Amino acid sequence: MKRILDLITDEVTKAFTECGYDAGYGKVTLSNRPDLCEYQCNGAMAAAKEYKKAPFVIADEVAEKLLGHGMFSMVESVKPGFLNLKIAEEYLAAYVAGMQGDGERFGCEKVQSQKTILIDYGGPNVAKPLHVGHLRSAIIGESIKRIARFIGHNVIGDVHLGDWGLQMGLIITELKERKPGLSYFDEHYEGEYEEEAPFTIGELEEIYPTASAKSKEDEAYKEAAMQATVELQNGRRGYRALLAHILNVSVTDLKANYEKLNVSFDLWKGESDAQPYIPGMVQKMKEDGFAYLSEGALVVDVKEETDTKEIPPCMILKSDGGALYNTTDLATIVWRMQDYKPDKLIYVVDKRQELYFTQVFRCASKTGLVADETELQFLGFGTMNGKDGKPFKTRQGGVMRLEYLVDSVNEEMRKKITENRKAKENLEISEEEAERTARQIALSAIKYGDLSNQASKDYIFDIDRFTSFEGNTGPYILYTIVRIKSILNKYYGLGKKQEGASIEAAHSLSEKNLMLELSRFNAVMWNAFEETAPHKICSYLYELANAFNSFYHETKIMTEEDESIQKSYIRLLELTKGVLETCIDVLGFSAPDRM
Ligand code: ARG
Repeated sequence: MKRILDLITDEVTKAFTECGYDAGYGKVTLSNRPDLCEYQCNGAMAAAKEYKKAPFVIADEVAEKLLGHGMFSMVESVKPGFLNLKIAEEYLAAYVAGMQGDGERFGCEKVQSQKTILIDYGGPNVAKPLHVGHLRSAIIGESIKRIARFIGHNVIGDVHLGDWGLQMGLIITELKERKPGLSYFDEHYEGEYEEEAPFTIGELEEIYPTASAKSKEDEAYKEAAMQATVELQNGRRGYRALLAHILNVSVTDLKANYEKLNVSFDLWKGESDAQPYIPGMVQKMKEDGFAYLSEGALVVDVKEETDTKEIPPCMILKSDGGALYNTTDLATIVWRMQDYKPDKLIYVVDKRQELYFTQVFRCASKTGLVADETELQFLGFGTMNGKDGKPFKTRQGGVMRLEYLVDSVNEEMRKKITENRKAKENLEISEEEAERTARQIALSAIKYGDLSNQASKDYIFDIDRFTSFEGNTGPYILYTIVRIKSILNKYYGLGKKQEGASIEAAHSLSEKNLMLELSRFNAVMWNAFEETAPHKICSYLYELANAFNSFYHETKIMTEEDESIQKSYIRLLELTKGVLETCIDVLGFSAPDRM
């Protein structure tokens, strides 16, 4: 369906041109004075200059033309030259009924020409547990993926594991100290390796920090780890086999953790997958004259004339010939282009890596790794802070494991749910359902708490605020959905039928406001997609939930005696539920049946 603002703009534009003014002046926006009108057009103010007339004269003429138009219930020209508009109840009801009749899309059209979009998010490091720093990438990336899919694009999510470099050498070195007899360390071994990994995830998570700490104290140990890294990179058979084990064990654990967050990836590729593409890529950069030696290192210049700050060259190889984080990201672009030909690549990474990605993107475009029309987007997110305004830490001051954070919110929610059950004597909810519901609401608290902020901004993780059932929170949105579900259950539980039901013109102001909010759905989705801005969906959800709750408090739905009015209410409730659920689905969480 066409957006309601566009439909209104079309009519106002027609009026402008019929009065002899340029079509460009007819643009209508949502009112910034909802006390006076629902929509407004400020075109007469601008047209006044071009046509050398007082703005109110133009506004009057246009208002005159629109008078009596079935789309509006109010057209007012107000000094100095604004057009204030209210939409006709019948027109609005017909639009909203159109949404209702449009299945799962609720009037939001799919994109005409589908693009392939690859999103790089998550970025966990194998053998290291997920920490809160990975939470934002997962939450934001997942939502952007879902929004783009809803719009109709072909979207691929890649986790881009940190599975390369010294950390692997460290693990191998520590394993060798502990279990020197393993065949992986025997250079002459030519047989098959065990299928089972020689460690569990628990051991692996302990091995890495131990090794890392040792390497900082013991020069020889560090030397050994570096040597192991080089040997692994050169393809030593036993070490490759160990890498495969490390990956396997780690990925199984990571998948389970991401699943708890309702986050999933299409590709589980890692930095190691990019390594085979490095030699060819470097060779070509040299041949094409882009890469040159500077103080022993191989670099590509990426500064541009218009730069206001210094953008250093992009380093491709260190002076010892070793590859870097950059090299891996560039080589990753090589296989992504080769295998998936994406029209657009989006990187959801900590905003402190912005300069780094500027270098990588410029280097990729300049050296032709991507086509001119390939879009490279860096979506940098801010830091999640604690209540003290400093990066979120454990009580002991360490980095907080993601699992612990999620568990603590789950626990908080479980307490609330239990209290709620007691207060309502609603004890027919089983312990098991209460647990499940608590986890579901907790996830909405975490995700909404994050996504309702503009991604690039830092935010304070405030567990008390996020888990509240009131205010601009995930649980409040879920509560609203649950409220609608319960009314619908009651209604259908009475054996009522919805045959012949239609959405009637609003019977009250609060009902009209609800319809006005509903009618914005397609515009909000598109806008959130175009601006990669999930927070716009959160603001919409909050406004829609508020509009619904006002309507609910002012309207007797179940006791309405006029059958056709009641049916119309029920239709509206179903539509509201559908729109709310679609919005939370693209944010990456869902609502329980009761809470
Ligand atoms: N593994 C990295 C980290 O933990 C994040 C990776 C981000 N993505 C990328 N393509 N560089 O910091």
